[in-house]
Amino acid sequence: MAVSNKIEKALEGASWVRKMFEEGDRLKRIHGPENVFDFTLGNPILEPPDEFFEELRSVANNPVPGMSRYMSNPGYEDTRKRIADMLSGETRLPFTEEQIIMSTGAAGGLNITLKSILDPGDEVITPSPYFVEYRFYVDNHGGTLKLVETRDDFSLDLGAMDEAIGQKTKAVLINSPNNPTGVVYSKESLMELGEILRRKSEQFGKTIFLLCDEAYKKLVYDDVKLPDVFSVYDTCIAVNSHSKDLSIPGERIGYVAISPLCEGKEELADAMAFCLRTLGFVNAPALMQRLVGRLTNVSVDISGYQEKRDLFYGALVDFGYSVVKPMGAFYLFPRCPADDDVAFVRALQAKNILTVPGSGFGRPGHMRIAYCVEKWVIEASLEGFKELAKEYGT
Ligand SMILES: Cc1ncc(COP(=O)(O)O)c(C=O)c1O
Repeated sequence: MAVSNKIEKALEGASWVRKMFEEGDRLKRIHGPENVFDFTLGNPILEPPDEFFEELRSVANNPVPGMSRYMSNPGYEDTRKRIADMLSGETRLPFTEEQIIMSTGAAGGLNITLKSILDPGDEVITPSPYFVEYRFYVDNHGGTLKLVETRDDFSLDLGAMDEAIGQKTKAVLINSPNNPTGVVYSKESLMELGEILRRKSEQFGKTIFLLCDEAYKKLVYDDVKLPDVFSVYDTCIAVNSHSKDLSIPGERIGYVAISPLCEGKEELADAMAFCLRTLGFVNAPALMQRLVGRLTNVSVDISGYQEKRDLFYGALVDFGYSVVKPMGAFYLFPRCPADDDVAFVRALQAKNILTVPGSGFGRPGHMRIAYCVEKWVIEASLEGFKELAKEYGT
C-alpha cells in the first residue's frame, strides 16, 4: 500500500454514509434513478436564494482590481465586520471583525479551531450520536474524541457530561441543530452545561472550551428558537457555515466566531489565522467572502424542508416507528424496529430505500434519514417503510 498505515486503516473503516451512498449509485444504475429512494447524503436540494445570484452577477459585472489576490489570512475586513455586526445584534455582545475568521465551511472552521487549541493527548468531548467526521478532525490535531451518550430523546445527559469532563478535557463540542438527530438543545440544558464547564475549569485549573458547530443554525422549525450559545459561557467559539443556509456547500464558505468575552481572544484569532495558512487553506475563497458579507440577512426558504419533515415524520409515526420529532436540520433518526440496525437498513435497501445505520453515528438500533431530497422521493418510499414496519411488527 502506498498510503500511510493510519490512513489505510481509516479508509478501510470508510463511513457508513459513503458506503450507502455508493450502494445507492449502484442501484440507480441498475434500476434507474426514479426507482431508488436515496436518503444517505446531507446534500441540500434547494437552489441558492435569488439574492445570491444577484450578488454574484453584480460582482462579476463590476470586478474591482485585485479582487482575486491573496489577502490577510482571516479574510476581508468588511465581510468580517458585517458578520460581527450581525452577531452583535443577535447576542448584544460587542463582536468586532477581530473575532471573526472566515473559513472554508464549518469543516475548515472546526479544523483551524481544533488545531489552534489542542495539544497531543487532549480530549474533546462530544454528545453521541454525533457527526462522524469529528473523530477525524480531532485526530488530525493530536486529540482524542470522547463520546458521551445523550438521553433517549437525544437531549444532553448533563450528569454524564459532568462525569466525563476530566483533567485531559480541552473542549466540549456540541452541534445544535444536530446531525444526525435534528434535535436543538434547550437554553436550560446549555446554561447548565455552561455551569459545569465553569466549575470544571476551576477544578482543573485550566480553561475548557465550548465549541459550537452551528452548521444548521438557520434551519430550525416551528416556534423553536436556537439558544444563543455565547450567553451561556464566555470561553465559547461558534463555527458557522453557509453550506446549508445559502445552499452552497460546494463553494466552501463559513466562519469562526470567538466570543468577545473569551480570555485570550486575540491570541486565539492569531492562532486560527496561522492555522488557516499552515493547514493549506491560506484563506477562505475570496469571491464567496464578497458575496456572503452582503447576504448576512438572507437564507433559503426553509418551509420546504419543514414540509418534508412533517410529511416524513407523520408517515413514519403512523406506520409505528418510534421517532423523536426533529426541531431543525434535515435529518430524521428513527429507532429501527429491530435491534440490528445494519440488518434493517439492508432490508430497506432490498426495497431500493437507502438510509444510514445509526451505528455509523455511534447509536446502534437507529437509522439516519436525510430528507433534503425532492418530495416525490419521500412519497414514493413510504410504501416500503410501511411494508417493513408491518413485517417487523411495529
Ligand atoms: C454537523 C456538521 N458539521 C459540519 C459539517 C461540514 O459542513 P461544511 O460544508 O460547512 O464544511 C456538516 C456537513 O454536513 C455537518 O453536518
